[in-house]
Amino acid sequence: MRHLLDTRTLSRDDAILILDTAEDMADAQQREMKKLPALRGKTVVNLFYEDSTRTRISFEAAAKRLSADVINFSAKGSSVSKGESLKDTAQTLQAIGADGVVIRHPASGAPDRLARSGWIDAGVLNAGDGTHEHPTQALLDAFTMRRRLFAGDSRGRDLDGVSVVIVGDIAHSRVARSNLWLLNALGAHLAFVAPETLLPYGARDWPVRIHHSLDDALREERPEVVMMLRIQSERMHAAFFPNEREYARNWGLDDARLAGLGEETIVMHPGPMNRGLEISARAADSERSTVLEQVANGVSVRMAALYLLLSGERSTS
Ligand code: CP
Repeated sequence: MRHLLDTRTLSRDDAILILDTAEDMADAQQREMKKLPALRGKTVVNLFYEDSTRTRISFEAAAKRLSADVINFSAKGSSVSKGESLKDTAQTLQAIGADGVVIRHPASGAPDRLARSGWIDAGVLNAGDGTHEHPTQALLDAFTMRRRLFAGDSRGRDLDGVSVVIVGDIAHSRVARSNLWLLNALGAHLAFVAPETLLPYGARDWPVRIHHSLDDALREERPEVVMMLRIQSERMHAAFFPNEREYARNWGLDDARLAGLGEETIVMHPGPMNRGLEISARAADSERSTVLEQVANGVSVRMAALYLLLSGERSTS
């Protein structure tokens, strides 16, 4: 594996290798080995054309914990605002000797373009591109599910038969798409829940059951995992967005729905959250919530991805 661009083309075996390597990284950090020498002498560039909190800081923490040098590049305040192209930016990174480029971009396909262009020799990691994919988010989600559901016995395991319901703004969600392909590869039973206007064209051809009623989905799917998605109003035409109160009433994980979940059901959200809209404060802060575990696990998963791509010590396909 030279690049990590999506989960659609990630095999089950490669996914499990990344998740098990992330277990090694988490174990090493628990043993107070905060810094590993694996990427000493390598340079990782965080190339962010869109805002981020969790993904950017956790890739930075991951690269530093592997002893890599890290350069943070934000399009705001760079020569991108003077019209510099992705090609010229990439060639600048090549000239400074980047070994790995972590890219977030508003255009779907930008990481793929960078990886296949020949402009750069570095390994490319997709940190979220348009509405296309966010592969490390789905991997950290799967890692969190494995750890919560198979506590102490997660290594080597997939998610065979685990029922997962993903709720909300599927249309604009790269997290939903990356989870769709990864969770299918890992054998989970997946359902999406959304109002018709927040389902993308073509969703009915995807390998996923689709519901419009959250209450029906919770009753019929009996999920072990409920993942709430952020309403991405910044990407949305007003005509497609239901009124906020109507949305919260019909598709929000409110206190009553939280109380009705199965005893062991976990509540996930990739963040950032719109509290009171897709998720109530009580649900976000409850013991079922894995929101902060997801953030912490993101560092281990991104350490694993950087290590497997850049160390040259283990290769997958
Ligand atoms: N989950 C996620 O991608 O969060 P950020 O936008 O803060 O990186």
